[in-house]
Amino acid sequence: MAGKIPQDFIDDLIARADIIEVIGRRVQLKKAGREFKACCPFHDEKTPSFTVSPGKGFYHCFGCGAHGTAIGFLMEFDHMSFVDAIESLANTMGVEVPRDESDRPARRYDELFALTESVAKHWQGQLRAHKVGADYLAGRGIDDDTARRFGIGFAADGWSEILDKFGQTPEAAERLLATGLIIRKDNGKLYDRFRERIMFPIRDQRGRCIGFGGRVIGDGEPKYLNSPETVLFHKGRELYGLFEARQALRHIDRLVVVEGYMDVVALARHGIDFATATLGTATTDEHLNRLFRLTDNVVFCFDGDRAGKAAAWRALENALPQIREGRQIRFVFLPDEHDPDSYVNEFGATAFVNAVDNGVALSDFLISELANQVDMQTVDGKARLAELARPLVNSIPAGVYRELLMGSLAEAVGLSAAKLDKMLQQTAQPGKESSPQGKFARADNTGTSMKSGQPSVVRRAITLLLNHPAAADKLDVEKLAGLSRPGIDVLQELIETVQAEPNISAAGLLERWRHDERGRHLGKLAAVEVPDEDEFDPALELSACLDQLALAGRRERIDFLIEKQKLNPLTDDEKLELRQML
Ligand code: CTP
Ligand code: MN
Repeated sequence: MAGKIPQDFIDDLIARADIIEVIGRRVQLKKAGREFKACCPFHDEKTPSFTVSPGKGFYHCFGCGAHGTAIGFLMEFDHMSFVDAIESLANTMGVEVPRDESDRPARRYDELFALTESVAKHWQGQLRAHKVGADYLAGRGIDDDTARRFGIGFAADGWSEILDKFGQTPEAAERLLATGLIIRKDNGKLYDRFRERIMFPIRDQRGRCIGFGGRVIGDGEPKYLNSPETVLFHKGRELYGLFEARQALRHIDRLVVVEGYMDVVALARHGIDFATATLGTATTDEHLNRLFRLTDNVVFCFDGDRAGKAAAWRALENALPQIREGRQIRFVFLPDEHDPDSYVNEFGATAFVNAVDNGVALSDFLISELANQVDMQTVDGKARLAELARPLVNSIPAGVYRELLMGSLAEAVGLSAAKLDKMLQQTAQPGKESSPQGKFARADNTGTSMKSGQPSVVRRAITLLLNHPAAADKLDVEKLAGLSRPGIDVLQELIETVQAEPNISAAGLLERWRHDERGRHLGKLAAVEVPDEDEFDPALELSACLDQLALAGRRERIDFLIEKQKLNPLTDDEKLELRQML
């Protein structure tokens, strides 16, 4: 059977393809400035609104919204499959599509996996050699056995431990760069990414080490440092601890999704082997697909604070399209001030399992959150609830579950199911559609700066980046660490992709997101006109966007902590954080 087509081959193909030639052979194009125009082949029109940009490598129709790369065009216009479109494009360019295991990229992947594995082993050895590391883990209640199961290690202090040991030849150094283990400075100097940190190897489904998370010893910043996006590691796709869970369990009857590395490890230490964590990102479609392939019973476990509620709400929104008969999705909210790690250490495994078993069903969480936002005593309030529920209910696939949820909703608003159904069918008034996320936004330092009509900074940054990918080359993506607002994970991944593949084109970036639901709007953003490079400095602009985001995030976090202080005493960590920020 033919193997997968290597991603770097697709990147390269897209970067070299001449989209004007590909489309021009099928549609009559006319040059208009830097771009080419035609009457759109995908809808009926008299004046041309179909635009092809050779620079960006893609097309966009301002009339019907159709857009895509050369590959996308072949798929739409010639009704080809993704793979056929690649074959066809490669064929016209006279190159062969690499397929089987013995091809160069596959070999290269094996070399990279061998490298990450050796580095992980090295760090595990260092854990025994350095008292700081071993003491830190012991202090957090992790025994040797658990540490060994998760391959936890310690990266000692120093700028070239890994570089010296694993990067002696230029090829070896290139491999270290490709896995994100070392960083190249502007002046060409190389240095280790991870220094003086507890190291958690992140493993893929087959147990291969694809990246690392490193926790600082003590209070430094950032608390967690993760591998960047590399050819091996795609943050939005991976779940920490899933491989280990599958190793430990013969039968997986449920999976608990938690937020942190330490949560997974602490739970395992207490014999709870069915926990897995997203890696500092919201729960994505791909995460859910992966989880539901293994079990029908998924429980999200979040901290009891408002940030936890906000994260849970985001998980709920993403989970709605995945609802099927027979699948159970529940939510557990731990008491304030607790995360799964602290909870299991304080109350023990049985208490945690009880909490999981008593989690709130998705439908109950949905209804109670919506009901909280309206005045259920008034007719207006109930109508508003129905309105808030509409987009959510509509994203659930039709079926028994949707019917049941409608029934519960109808009961909550005191209407017959038929009447409610009718209300939900009514088309939304433009601009009135609203999601309850806004309610949490401030509390969880998300806060969209989306004034009506004015694009958010995240959107602006993504637009800039898609128009001038090279501008992201030197950005400090760490500035975005810990920020959460819509689209920030996409922005982060885009930056990291450009940094891992400096020659990638805008179209190449778009292709990478073809199968990712979160990339739905990228095509639109890529089509937005931004000035040429000689009219302004995109790198400077982009960097300013990041600063603006980091600053706004800090402000919101300060506001949040000050507000919180009025209600509850802050933890020591929070006090320190607030003092540092002020
Ligand atoms: N995270 C991250 N970068 C940061 C902070 C957090 O990637 N600067 C991610 C990590 O995956 C981390 C998770 O978010 O595991 C949860 O972060 P947080 O709740 O702050 O940390 P804890 O898991 O509670 O860590 P610890 O108990 O070690 O303090
Ligand atoms: Mn914790």
